[in-house]
Amino acid sequence: MLTGGPSYTESVNRGPFLTDVAVVGGGAVGWAVAWRCAARGLRVTVHDPAPGSGASHVAAGMLAPVAEAYFGERELTGLLAASAARWPAFAAELAEAAGTGIGYRTDGTLVVGLTGDDLAEARRLWSYQRELGLPIDPLRPSELREREPALTPRVRGGAVAPGDHQVDPRRLVAALRTAAERAGATLVARPVARLSDLDARVTVVAAGCGAAALTGLPVRPVKGQILRLRAPGGGPPGLRHVIRGYADGEPVYLVPRDGGEVVVGATVEERADTEVTAGAVLRLLRAAVDLVPELAEYDLVEATAGLRPGTPDNAPVIGPLPGRPGVVAATGHHRHGIVLTPITADLVADLVVTGEADPLLAPFTPARFAATARAAHCG
Ligand code: GLY
Repeated sequence: MLTGGPSYTESVNRGPFLTDVAVVGGGAVGWAVAWRCAARGLRVTVHDPAPGSGASHVAAGMLAPVAEAYFGERELTGLLAASAARWPAFAAELAEAAGTGIGYRTDGTLVVGLTGDDLAEARRLWSYQRELGLPIDPLRPSELREREPALTPRVRGGAVAPGDHQVDPRRLVAALRTAAERAGATLVARPVARLSDLDARVTVVAAGCGAAALTGLPVRPVKGQILRLRAPGGGPPGLRHVIRGYADGEPVYLVPRDGGEVVVGATVEERADTEVTAGAVLRLLRAAVDLVPELAEYDLVEATAGLRPGTPDNAPVIGPLPGRPGVVAATGHHRHGIVLTPITADLVADLVVTGEADPLLAPFTPARFAATARAAHCG
């Protein structure tokens, strides 16, 4: 049980608490938890002075459990795949609940290598992904260009991950907020200094890097710089698939959206500032244009930097906080916050209602950091 005494469900609406669930953080994960909890009849407040302005605002929205499966991250890959499998139903349910689109697209992802060395690196990774039984199929350069004619003819080869999809995180957060508010959740647009200030039976900390100061969990900021381009003349972009590319040793991804936008991302820097640097913009643009030359003609409409919440093992931290009755962590999603939104929200809502953590969460419990917990602050 999360709260001790009577079961959580028995005590809902009977306790002296102002609310059942206080969610700290109004990003994708926070609003999704709020929606799922409110839809189950719980009184929910979401606490954030600037909802939707954190990592979700910067994120590209790749739903890529295959192309983002890396060596040594087997358990995380399993969670990514389990969450990605929930995405089609989650997207449909959300569109219905919010009455708005979220830019969910299922065109698939192409992994491409520009040079022989790039291809060797990409091939090593997709061989590993295939060993795990993940759906990714090698393609010849001509097959790649048939699927995506905007790719440079210089591309040496690649693969397709047909089940790796995408969503627009800004539209996602707006829709989640609408769905949560329609289900009865309310926003408290003030910062939370201490969890003990919240008068809630259960507090869910979905505050990204801010979770470190609130909980002592070892969540660190990992800076990402990212660009948004726009096709000239307001037309659709000249590419349909998400491209996960390696270009002269530079990893880059391109995410085309219906409205003409192409997101180009992202740096991964062990830093806590959110400055945009000329060098990063140069590297991202050079890699993007090397792979898809027509991008040189696009407008550069945005260059931003955000902070991903990373943990010592780069996996999320989801579950009851040891020694803090009624406090649940839902953070540390690092590079995977958007793809992990549905499973995090569903399993946290289950935990809040039943007091039991789903076995899927066992590798991601905050208890794994109990010995090393320290106050890590994000800049
Ligand atoms: N999800 C991709 C990134 O964090 O850059």
